[in-house]
Amino acid sequence: MSLKILVTGGAGYIGAHTVRLLLEQGHDVTVVDNLSKGYRHNVPAARLHVLDLADTAALAQLMREKRPQAVIHFAAFIAVGESMREPERYFANNVGGSLSLLTAMVEAGVKHIVFSSTAAVYGNPHANPILETFPIQPVSPYGESKVMVETLLGWFDRIHHLTSVSLRYFNASGADPASRLGEEHEPETHLLPLLLRAVITGSPITIFGGDYDTPDGTCIRDYIHVDDLAQAHILAVEYLLAGGATDQFKRRRRNRPHGNGNDPGGGGGNRQEGSARDRPAPRRRPAKPGGSLRQAPDQPGLAPAIHRPANHRGTRVGVREGACEDGAIEAPEQAAMARENQGH
Ligand SMILES: NC(=O)c1ccc[n+]([C@@H]2O[C@H](COP(=O)([O-])OP(=O)(O)OC[C@H]3O[C@@H](n4cnc5c(N)ncnc54)[C@H](O)[C@@H]3O)[C@@H](O)[C@H]2O)c1
Repeated sequence: MSLKILVTGGAGYIGAHTVRLLLEQGHDVTVVDNLSKGYRHNVPAARLHVLDLADTAALAQLMREKRPQAVIHFAAFIAVGESMREPERYFANNVGGSLSLLTAMVEAGVKHIVFSSTAAVYGNPHANPILETFPIQPVSPYGESKVMVETLLGWFDRIHHLTSVSLRYFNASGADPASRLGEEHEPETHLLPLLLRAVITGSPITIFGGDYDTPDGTCIRDYIHVDDLAQAHILAVEYLLAGGATDQFKRRRRNRPHGNGNDPGGGGGNRQEGSARDRPAPRRRPAKPGGSLRQAPDQPGLAPAIHRPANHRGTRVGVREGACEDGAIEAPEQAAMARENQGH
């Protein structure tokens, strides 16, 4: 079934891969991007609307025109180190922009959103892999801005019945296997493109962190392929459109009132504080058409894995949290954060 989806930040790295996959799957896609970091060449011209998230009226008008069934929200500033130098820009764009988007959705009657959050909401996790039960304690304005948006999503669910899925990942990597798209961050702070650039140019790069418990002292990084991530976002949309509630990820909603200081999503969200032991047993929900979200049963407490139903093409897509992140490779303050498992 063809879906109508609006993608913010669709001219950026992950957004463009998601737009391409949506189009390949026969969906009707509208892209909103201000091209501050993204590229016109990443998106078919007819799909692209050069708009800033801050323009609530224009967003609402576009949504009334295109009537999307859901929004996939990628648009944000993403550099952890930069957010330490210019927090006001991060809060204005990531939080203010998201609030504007949500306001436009309410005005236009769009009820579902998949939000690209980040593992940086966990700050410096005390163990790996990061469990969903770990405390929410961001250590950068970037991470904090994502927590704040998750908080907004909790309230918009409660008050406007706008359902959402927040995906907390890090270290997107790779490119369209057909080489039509790739990673073009400017400045580039991610390890894999920097390594490839080093190979091409012959100029060395520095890998920060030398005291991890590994044979060479550098940290072990987990990555997720950008196409798997794109598919995860699409499955999350299908889950919401099939009637899945934000509550799917809020297992403590009934026990914990909204407003808990550690609980930005309104009772659980994609993350919960406390220890893995203190978490309720994973629940399975009946399979829904088009996809399902469920807790990975083998390691209770891990962030949700997203599975394709058996009748769908392809295989399991997992969103896994890992040992440490990149996105912390260039600037000195980022280097410091790499040591602390901080990044996005
Ligand atoms: N890259 C990663 O490894 C990673 C990891 C975790 C989370 N994320 C999240 O995924 C999302 C996409 O990341 P990316 O790597 O594709 O980044 P990106 O910079 O390539 O893409 C972001 C896009 O958003 C657009 N944008 C920014 N502010 C905007 C605004 N106010 N109005 C309209 N458009 C705006 C930019 O022009 C750009 O095209 C971000 O929200 C990021 O926080 C990324």
